[in-house]
Amino acid sequence: MNEPFFALRVSRKHQLTPDIVLIDLVHPEGLDLPVFTPGAHITVQTPKGLHRSYSLCGQPKDQQKWQIAVKRENAGRGGSCSMFDDLLEGDQLQTHPWLNLFELKDQAKFFIFVAGGIGITPIMSMMRHLLSMGKNNFQLYYCTRDSLSTAFLEQLNAPEMVDHVKIHHDHGDLSQALDLWPLFENPNGSDIYCCGPAGLMDSVRDMTGHWPSESVHFESFGISKNTSNENKSFDIILNSSGKRIHVFPDCSILDALRSNGETVSSSCESGTCGSCRTGLISGEAEHRDYVLLDDEKDTHIMVCVSRALTTELVLDL
Ligand code: FES
Repeated sequence: MNEPFFALRVSRKHQLTPDIVLIDLVHPEGLDLPVFTPGAHITVQTPKGLHRSYSLCGQPKDQQKWQIAVKRENAGRGGSCSMFDDLLEGDQLQTHPWLNLFELKDQAKFFIFVAGGIGITPIMSMMRHLLSMGKNNFQLYYCTRDSLSTAFLEQLNAPEMVDHVKIHHDHGDLSQALDLWPLFENPNGSDIYCCGPAGLMDSVRDMTGHWPSESVHFESFGISKNTSNENKSFDIILNSSGKRIHVFPDCSILDALRSNGETVSSSCESGTCGSCRTGLISGEAEHRDYVLLDDEKDTHIMVCVSRALTTELVLDL
């Protein structure tokens, strides 16, 4: 994904909850936007210049506007705060063309959607798509802290949607988390789509190990795999020059390369877009991305998020 950014105009920005804003994006000259597929996302350049990916949550066939919802993550790396605080109606937002790493399989017999918090966004586009096709073979389980922090309440309570939605509040208490086991105990031919915090996705992953793997789908922006692993320092060696670069625990390989004047394509910087794919010549990587297939992991690494299990990695740079 190395297409250039293009500008969309922020036509509306309004709050869904105290810390979630819905942002409408239109073509600056009023032209039609491309139709997207449900589950797609865009990568934008925030007002502070950071690249962040957000799922498109509107109706995929709507060519008048694209919609994204952004949750202000106070403990994040600044991208969501910049979108929440600095982006204003009328501003231009630099945007990549949409990309879909969370495709909805239209032909599924039944869809079970599991969303946590802001993870509702790709599911909204999926449900809107199904309803627009005259399909109502889906059920959403939407886990949030409380009603105040629940986005899209109005839309989810609309007559065409309400019978397909179960909202569960845990009030910030893990012991009150929704028990999903009765749902997943017996595989029933449905397709499962899950997006939300790492804990929720881990639970669904654990509970669906006996389901066909092609029926269970996860979206995971901004949540690197294995983030519970402590970051260690290591060296990278550039194969073409033999240059050795140290990667400190609080620094990504991508940032270490940049600091040393090396250029690698990047976009999402969260292991989801595929831009920073780099050849791995030797050493063992700790893969934290959502892009590489199993048979690519010995020979490639996504340098924005992944790290090393060995003391050094030789990269094809
Ligand atoms: S920059 Fe997107 S996967 Fe690395």
